Amino acid sequence: MVSKTFLMVKPDGVQRQIIGDIISRFERKGLQLVGAKLMRVTTELAEEHYKEHKGKPFYENLIQFITSGPVFAMVWQGENVVDITRKLIGKTNPKDAEPGTIRGDYCLYVSKNIIHGSDSEESAVREISLFFNEDEILEYNKDI
Ligand code: CMP
Repeated sequence: MVSKTFLMVKPDGVQRQIIGDIISRFERKGLQLVGAKLMRVTTELAEEHYKEHKGKPFYENLIQFITSGPVFAMVWQGENVVDITRKLIGKTNPKDAEPGTIRGDYCLYVSKNIIHGSDSEESAVREISLFFNEDEILEYNKDI
């Protein structure tokens, strides 16, 4: 079934100027970019987005890191998009991420793992609504 997911290039990915490569990987797979913006994440938004991690040892660093510079927030659409994007992104910890995945190719540390992707359909709906207004998500012209 066609659905949507939320992906976000984190401050390390933006700083390293690999937004283009990341977008290419998803486009090449056949997924559609239906929403995108370069933005700063406020502390309030970061805390809401990562609320399931509150209390974990890495939580404070995570909030500090995600608010430290611009992120590139995206909504992608396609068949099984949550599962497919998670496969293309790779395991959370780059030491376990396979070569050929984004994290397998680009990073070494779990605290700076380049990109976030929703982990379920429910998370995707929640995260999309946190970062995007409805009118910022577009449909493609099917006649072209
Ligand atoms: P992300 O997919 O954005 O979701 C939560 C983030 O917490 C995760 O990617 C990691 O970047 C970050 N994080 C930092 N330290 C850890 C850790 N020890 N275990 C899991 N996630 C961590």
